[in-house]
Amino acid sequence: MSIAAPEPKANMGQPIPRYDAVAKVTGKAQYAADVALVSPAYAYLVTSSIAKGRIDGFDLDAARRVRGVIDIVTHENAEKLKEAKLFSNGGYAATTIQPLKSADIAQEGEIVAIVLAETFEAARQAAQAVKVNYTAAVPTTTFDSPDTTSAPAKGQLAQFKEDPKVGDFAKAFDEAEVKLTADYETPTQHHNPMELFATSCVWNGDNLTIYEPTQYVYGLKNGVAEQLGIDADKVRVINAYVGGAFGSKGSMTPRTAIIASVARRLGRPVKLVATRDQGFTIATYRAETRHQIQIGAGRDGKLTALRHEGWEISSRADPYAVGGTKTTTRMYACPNVESLVSIVRADRNTPGFMRAPPEVPYMFALESAMDELAVELKMDPIELRRINDTMREPIGGKPYTSRSLMACFDTAAKTFGWAQRNAQPKSMADGDWLIGYGCATSCYPTQMAPAAARVRLQRDGRTRVEIAGHEIGNGAYTVIGQAAAEKLGVPVEKVSVFIGDSDLPPAPVAGGSNSTASTCSAVMMVCDQVRQRLFKALMPNETLVDKAKETVGLAPAPSAQAAKSDRPLDIERAFDALGVSVVEEYGEWKPDGVPMDSFRAMHRGQMRMVGGDAMKDKIAYAFGAEFVEVRINRWTHEIRVPRLVGAFAAGHIMNPRTARSQLMGGLIWGMSSALHEATELDERYARYVNDNLADYLVPVNADVPDVEVIMLAEQDDHINPAGVKGIGELGNVGTNAAVCNAIFHATGQRIRKLPVRLENLEI
Ligand code: MOS
Repeated sequence: MSIAAPEPKANMGQPIPRYDAVAKVTGKAQYAADVALVSPAYAYLVTSSIAKGRIDGFDLDAARRVRGVIDIVTHENAEKLKEAKLFSNGGYAATTIQPLKSADIAQEGEIVAIVLAETFEAARQAAQAVKVNYTAAVPTTTFDSPDTTSAPAKGQLAQFKEDPKVGDFAKAFDEAEVKLTADYETPTQHHNPMELFATSCVWNGDNLTIYEPTQYVYGLKNGVAEQLGIDADKVRVINAYVGGAFGSKGSMTPRTAIIASVARRLGRPVKLVATRDQGFTIATYRAETRHQIQIGAGRDGKLTALRHEGWEISSRADPYAVGGTKTTTRMYACPNVESLVSIVRADRNTPGFMRAPPEVPYMFALESAMDELAVELKMDPIELRRINDTMREPIGGKPYTSRSLMACFDTAAKTFGWAQRNAQPKSMADGDWLIGYGCATSCYPTQMAPAAARVRLQRDGRTRVEIAGHEIGNGAYTVIGQAAAEKLGVPVEKVSVFIGDSDLPPAPVAGGSNSTASTCSAVMMVCDQVRQRLFKALMPNETLVDKAKETVGLAPAPSAQAAKSDRPLDIERAFDALGVSVVEEYGEWKPDGVPMDSFRAMHRGQMRMVGGDAMKDKIAYAFGAEFVEVRINRWTHEIRVPRLVGAFAAGHIMNPRTARSQLMGGLIWGMSSALHEATELDERYARYVNDNLADYLVPVNADVPDVEVIMLAEQDDHINPAGVKGIGELGNVGTNAAVCNAIFHATGQRIRKLPVRLENLEI
């Protein structure tokens, strides 16, 4: 008897529950530090208490006397590792500051010693007994500190390619009917994922296995191999779940190769779980930024001139910058645009990606300025965006593949009740509470990178999908399973997904919101290969290529309609015709426009990401509109946010349930970023003061009563086979500005420096 496989369902787009939900809520999900090792040594870090200077020597006697201590590694006895190149300059590393290399100190909190002991407690006790003698120099901490050096990002940083410019800004600004010049500032912030920066290394002969939470198993594998000077195929990174990352686990930090080296020298597994405060200095962060926006416009609201200059803090060692002018200069129609991004060097650890680089700080500046312009023009801020909305970006004149910005504004405005707003600042109140409504544009580039997958289909429909993607809380397992189920026409329950292991086919970094687009496109392509083999077995005489195109749907954008037109596949009959019980296919997918070497680079863990503004003849972004209600107590200045509403259009939504969760998290983070989060610096010592979750403010449930997420239908056939734009970072881009715009409406006071604290209000 032969059973026809069910008609392919539109699995893609269904709000099915998270694949890993039960494992997570029952505690079965194994995170990196949960790994049980045989006879491990425990590592505890000692970090520098000075930001600049040198180590004169160590006094290790007391530490060595602690029972259970095995070894203490310092620059005096550590293996000299090979240099690591910065991720943003084409390498793997989050920083080129290499600890345990010399007596020199480049940043506060740099690793200066590693204590190894039989227990975690002994390692900690001994680490606290390590005495380091320093000669300290005076560090440069941040903007306005003495001895900062500032230079344009372009030319220093490979990833930063242009200072976008078109027309004649100076002349147009000079002639503009309405002019606005405003300066904005954003603070230092840290990712603070719940899961700490843990690393366990196990050697088996020449083979190294690393258990570490990472957004990029292939990057980590290749980066560590390079630093150790060994063949990358001898290194395996395993990481089934990541307990939060937000960019902090995207590139290799120095700890990993060091722990691997120490484990090799001891001849036993080593486990490190860095503390919360160490996470502030041994990994990356969002550096503080400054901006100047100048806008010239006509009385009709049309922009005639726009200039965005940005300054970002980076370390002495590395020219890191997020560089968001590529987005802000292309956001609205404007014939005369100019921009410049500069990097200001200080004696700090190197900053890095933090959800959503680079749009969060740069769009805060632009969207605040747009609101200021609307006030100046006495125009509704939504109408100002409508007047300047464009389907072509103004710098290169390239068309947006799709852009539903105004549809997002209109939908969110209606849900929010924007029409009830009295435009006059300080005009709305409820007893002691001043009420403010504010809104802003959100956006994020649509990015993709090459990915490979292996798919195995059994006669009974059970399917195994393998791809070295990453579950960073985004729902990666779930959407990859949905893509395979839909393409093969098998129930999603029959699909097992294997990710988070560098022995699986390579996938890109889970960053830049590219994961779903890249991994699902690869998985769909390989599922098509499986279907083609089965179809060929059943219909050997038909022209395969055309049939495949027609039935397997290699065409882009698998809308529900496209899925329905897929011919049902009689799997069992096809297996009989083939005379096998398992069909397995491997394939490598790449988006249009990646360089020729992209597959080779993919295996080496090097990014060849394309998309956003960087495509040849088009530009691809996801858009959103975010609305915020603030209530400010007129006596105490307490700031409350009773409502957040966001409407988003991001192409095909693979799973509205996991997507909603992502976007909701983004909105909450955006609000938090505006009102709560800031890493406080002690400028004398270039030291982070509030380096714990008690002092680093994050919102609790009482801070976010009502969050509404609306997802607009959008079909975009010009981006990737999955039709997916990516949503991981879209949610928290517009919120900073929306909060400040609402505060202006409530109080008449314009806040241009984040975060907004009650002591900053002068009502
Ligand atoms: Mo995201 S900050 O690119 O991991």
